[in-house]
Amino acid sequence: MRIVSGIQPTGNLHLGNYLGAIRNWVRMQDDGECLFFLADLHAISMPHDPATLTANTYEMVAALVACGVDPDRSYLFNQTQVPAHAELQWLLNGTARMGWLNRMTQWKDKAGKNREGASAALFTYPVLQAADVLLYQTTHVPVGDDQKQHLELARDIAQKFNNDFASEDDPVFTLPEPFIPPEAARIMSLRDGSAKMSKSEPSDMSRINMTDDADTIMQKVKKAKTDPEPLPSDPAGLEGRAEAKNLVAIYAAMAGSSVDAVLAEFGGEGFGKFKPALGELLVETLAPINARFVELKQDRAALSAILAKGAEKARTLAAPTLSRTYEALGLVRG
Ligand code: TRP
Repeated sequence: MRIVSGIQPTGNLHLGNYLGAIRNWVRMQDDGECLFFLADLHAISMPHDPATLTANTYEMVAALVACGVDPDRSYLFNQTQVPAHAELQWLLNGTARMGWLNRMTQWKDKAGKNREGASAALFTYPVLQAADVLLYQTTHVPVGDDQKQHLELARDIAQKFNNDFASEDDPVFTLPEPFIPPEAARIMSLRDGSAKMSKSEPSDMSRINMTDDADTIMQKVKKAKTDPEPLPSDPAGLEGRAEAKNLVAIYAAMAGSSVDAVLAEFGGEGFGKFKPALGELLVETLAPINARFVELKQDRAALSAILAKGAEKARTLAAPTLSRTYEALGLVRG
C-alpha cells in the first residue's frame, strides 16, 4: 500500500486534533508507505493571514513529529516545496470538467451565496487534491465522510485522463482506493458535551491543548462538566448524558479500549473516582508528547530541516509521473 494524506495547517492544536486525525496518521505508518503533507497551497483558497499560515505550518510539523509521525520512515513535507503538486494541478485542469467541480459539496458550502466573490482556488481546490494523490501512484487514501467526494473526483479525473491520453495497458495514473482509517474519535468540549472541542471556543477550560502541562490537564479534567449520576454499566445508559459520554469516549480512545470495556470497569462509580483516573491516563499519555511538542515548536531550524528532507524525497518520487503527464499531453519539455 502507498498511502497519501494531507492536512491543512491549523494552530492551537488540542486533544480533538490528536485523537481525530493525527493519531491515525501515526498508526497508518504500520500499514504501508506513507506520504503525509501539509496542504499549505489549499490554505490560500480562503481568506488568510500570511504570518499565521507560516506559524501554523511549523506548529503542525512539530505536532506531527511529537505525536509520532516519523520523518525517516514516512514522507513528511509541505506542498509548497514540491512544485509538482501545483504543476500537475494545472495539467489536470485540462481534464477536470466544470460540471464535476460545480457539484462538489465543499465548494457549495464554502462559497455559500457568494459564488461570484469566491476565489478560483476554492473552485479548483479538488483538482489540486487530485494532483496530491495522483502524483505518487497512490494506492490508498484515508477518507472520512467529508472527503469521500474528493476521492471520487480524483478517480474520475484519473480515469478520464488515462482514457484520453494513455493506452489501456499502460495508464499514466493509478486509481486510488479509499482506506477506512481506524475509527476517528469525535471529541467534544469539556464544558458542553454537544459542541465539538474547538480552538475557537473562548473558554480554555473547554479543551486540552497540546501545550498544556500535567497540572493544567488534571485541573481541566477535574473541572469538566458532568452530571450527578454514577456511570452506567453499559453504553445505553449514556444516552442523554452528553458530558459523561464524552469523558468515557476520551478514556476509551486514550486507553486504546472500548466504551464497553471502560464501563465494565467504572460502571457504578461516580465522577469522583472516574475523573482522577481519566486525568492520570491523559497526563501519562500526553505529557511526553506535549513536552516534545513545546520543545520542537521553538526549533525552527530542526523543523525546516525535516520539511526540506521530506520535500526532497517527495520531489524524487513525483518526477516520473509528472514527466509522463507532460509527455502524454504532447507538451515539449526540451
Ligand atoms: N482537503 C483535505 C482536508 O481539508 C486535505 C487534503 C488536501 C487531502 N489534499 C489531500 C487529504 C489529499 C487527503 C488526500 O482535510
